[in-house]
Amino acid sequence: MTVRFQADLEKLSSFNFKKNVIYESIISTPNPDHTPNTAPMGVTMLDEKHLTLTIFNTSKTLRNLKTAQCAVINLTSDIEVFYKSTFKEINPEGKVPSEWFVQANFVKAPKLRDTDAALEVLIVNFKPIDDEKTEVTCRVQHITSKASYPQPYSRAMALTLETLIHATRIEAYLKIPQKQTETAKLIEKIRDYADIVERVAPNSIYTLVLDDLQKRIALWRQEP
Ligand SMILES: Cc1cc2nc3c(=O)[nH]c(=O)nc-3n(C[C@H](O)[C@H](O)[C@H](O)COP(=O)(O)O)c2cc1C
Repeated sequence: MTVRFQADLEKLSSFNFKKNVIYESIISTPNPDHTPNTAPMGVTMLDEKHLTLTIFNTSKTLRNLKTAQCAVINLTSDIEVFYKSTFKEINPEGKVPSEWFVQANFVKAPKLRDTDAALEVLIVNFKPIDDEKTEVTCRVQHITSKASYPQPYSRAMALTLETLIHATRIEAYLKIPQKQTETAKLIEKIRDYADIVERVAPNSIYTLVLDDLQKRIALWRQEP
């Protein structure tokens, strides 16, 4: 990985981070058994050095952050990393592959080997929001970035990410009888997204992920 403009990269605005925008990242943290864990999480810039995340209390990531007090926020547009980090059961042994990771340089956390940029962060505050979620504030210790060509924008990327988020909700909502109307709406939306992705990115990693997610949703619906 090539590191460029190290001094400038201490600032979040070097990455075109804008205030009040949620950016989708892959956060990597150490599990209690020291194996690496990743999860897609939205991050928001607070100022040039601080980011906030809103994390479900049930997630392994929050548990790991409380113990390790640090993490790496990886910036990538690799849909496979998002997919396999959301539904770990897709991976062998139910864990993201350890060869994806190297140790971060400035914090005791795993970092994605092949990320576009890595923000190594220390946790400075945990603030409970409600019974379900906690707001986590991080301070950026170090930033590395690949000197790379820009990722051309495809609508398939956003729609596939949206489907992944809907799928996490559908999996949870199917167990709650009062959420059935909402679940049906989300499934309908995924069908619409799948139609668009089929048009803008046929026979691609995006259609592959969408097909697989739709199959998984059909299986979850059959479960008693
Ligand atoms: C694009 C995307 C963004 C997500 N953002 C968040 C988030 O901001 N906070 C959160 O708690 N979960 C978020 N999720 C859901 C978690 O990534 C998902 O529940 C994951 O399985 C948690 O993994 P963990 O238990 O290993 O932490 C997001 C999922 C996707 C696909």
